[in-house]
Amino acid sequence: MTTTGLPESLIATLPGHYYTDADIFRLEQEHIFETMWFCVARSRELDKPGAFRTVDVGRESILVTRSRDHAIRAFFNVCRHRGAKLCTEESGEVKRAFQCPYHAWTYDLQGKLIAAPNLSRMTDVGRTEYGLVNVHVREWLGYVWICLADDPPSFEEQVIGEVVARLGEVAAVDRYNIADLEVGKRIVYDVKANWKLIVENFMECYHCATIHPELTEVLPEFADGYAAQYFVGHGAEFGADVKGFTVDGSEGLDRIPTVSEDQDRRYYAITVKPQVFINLVPDHVIFHRMFPVAADRTIVECDWLYLKDVVDSGKDVSRSVELFDRVNRQDFDACERCQPAMSSRLYAKGGVLVPSEHHIGVFHDWVHARLGARQP
Ligand code: FES
Ligand code: FE
Repeated sequence: MTTTGLPESLIATLPGHYYTDADIFRLEQEHIFETMWFCVARSRELDKPGAFRTVDVGRESILVTRSRDHAIRAFFNVCRHRGAKLCTEESGEVKRAFQCPYHAWTYDLQGKLIAAPNLSRMTDVGRTEYGLVNVHVREWLGYVWICLADDPPSFEEQVIGEVVARLGEVAAVDRYNIADLEVGKRIVYDVKANWKLIVENFMECYHCATIHPELTEVLPEFADGYAAQYFVGHGAEFGADVKGFTVDGSEGLDRIPTVSEDQDRRYYAITVKPQVFINLVPDHVIFHRMFPVAADRTIVECDWLYLKDVVDSGKDVSRSVELFDRVNRQDFDACERCQPAMSSRLYAKGGVLVPSEHHIGVFHDWVHARLGARQP
């Protein structure tokens, strides 16, 4: 027994209310999602000036677009006049400006106020001062990452640092050339579970033998329950007679030519807190972005990325996609099975982590540290 009253093998999870309580979720919005770098879109979704996407990040609606100079920009999706939501569509394209549907204040793609009824008679109203309010933007791996903090944390530390901590060096991810890959398939999952259950599930493989028969067929070492992502630089090796990372172990697609020999026939999983999972295999990359919308609901957007030639030539990626689509559904079903029990009185003090899950305790410490003294 330890001081926590638990046997040596076990450590406690977070208490149940961390997964259900609206006040905790609000704190997470404020101190995690609205403060850290948050991955919102594939850069190529915004292929030309005026293409836009709106996303909810924490409690804010954010408008992401490409301006005339081809730079990606992100703004609070809030009209500077009386606060109407500027863009109500999830994605689309405008010709040269965003016009508020309420009183027609109009902003160019740089966010500047360019027109409004009677604006010429209000010469004291600054066009930039009353323009849309910018949000910090970075592009990496072909994705748009934004940060709502006035003074954002170092992208190198928060985002790239997590990838380096897992793979040992940034060159290891660069070799997959993710920015140049094309989306071959995107599936959006509406998961009725707290985002932390999804992170915790992704971090461990204790469940792999039980719920992922197809995955453990392809990656036999996963049957032991030790998550590959727990060991720096380690990728789980494909089974001897497995030809590719597909639902039936059959041949995959064209291999990404810059992937190194020692990365070949291996699977690497990376958790980039708070809301990105990156999965690397020699012929494709599976990229998850979570959008936590409530304590008990998370939208997960998952992209399967292949070489441009593979996508352009219309090669059949269905067996490749099906493997991780099944894994996703198996995982999200498990998370949804846990969610209702988070409010059970039996789980008020939480559950336990076995040794192969102890690294999840580090994630819990991180949550506590982010929320600090504010936790109810
Ligand atoms: Fe947008 Fe009035 S609220 S123009
Ligand atoms: Fe899983």
